[in-house]
Amino acid sequence: MDIKDLNIIVTGAASGLGLCFAQELAEAGANVMACDINEEALSNVETSENLKTHVCNIADEGDVKGLIAATVEAFGSVNGLVNNAGIFRDSLLVSKDRETGEVRTMSLRHWQQVIDVDLTGPFLCTREVAAHMVEHDVKPGVIVNISSVSRHGNRGQSNYSAAKAGLVADTKLWAEELSRYGIRVGAVAPGFVQTPILEAMKPDMLDRLLKGVPLRRAGKPFEIWQAVRFILECDYFTGRCIDVDGGINL
Ligand SMILES: NC(=O)c1ccc[n+]([C@@H]2O[C@H](COP(=O)([O-])OP(=O)(O)OC[C@H]3O[C@@H](n4cnc5c(N)ncnc54)[C@H](O)[C@@H]3O)[C@@H](O)[C@H]2O)c1
Repeated sequence: MDIKDLNIIVTGAASGLGLCFAQELAEAGANVMACDINEEALSNVETSENLKTHVCNIADEGDVKGLIAATVEAFGSVNGLVNNAGIFRDSLLVSKDRETGEVRTMSLRHWQQVIDVDLTGPFLCTREVAAHMVEHDVKPGVIVNISSVSRHGNRGQSNYSAAKAGLVADTKLWAEELSRYGIRVGAVAPGFVQTPILEAMKPDMLDRLLKGVPLRRAGKPFEIWQAVRFILECDYFTGRCIDVDGGINL
């Protein structure tokens, strides 16, 4: 598919990877609807004739329906989606303080918040975009899910690992279910990437983390974009996840 032919929604596009994807897509000629829950950050995104913004909580069914309607109103139809928005709320499942003996657990609230945004959000966005495409016979179409290297299970991330693993499982089954309608679905699983999340980390902690990466550095948003672009453009790619992680699991 030629990027110029895309009317595409990017979620979580006010910051980090999503902002990079939205800007690169618009520069390559796609019509982009950049959505985010953070209205203030989204208002700083430079809009143009082919890059519009829309405030949306992807975990809210009504908001997601409104996002599709706004994109159709702006560009006529939707034939692309990048499920990028994501959050984390890390803590161990159970831990005991060595000094006080206090036992702490991951709260149900933190479990649910991450599942809502990182798994239910992509489910709602994919369902609504695919339903629009099937109803209006819009084809071909393409959907990219942003998972994570944490999908293999990462200490302190019961919630995030479950959501990101679920997203790759759904990538496979959505690819299979939607192929008959001309819709491809792929995933990209980044390792550590230089975005505000990483920049907020203490330098010594970041150094320790990056020692475990064979390429000895964090990725750049543009390097994740290169994988997203491959999935968008390669008409024979579907149902698979591309790891872009500096070799972290080798
Ligand atoms: N940065 C990394 O190292 C890294 C590594 C692996 C995977 N990822 C994944 O890449 C994606 C982007 O991460 P990032 O580093 O750019 O993060 P980021 O925090 O810079 O950007 C995420 C954006 O999502 C938005 N968002 C949060 N909840 C939302 C909701 N309910 N509805 C709509 N928008 C919402 C935020 O406001 C924010 O603008 C996430 O899915 C993340 O899990 C990031």
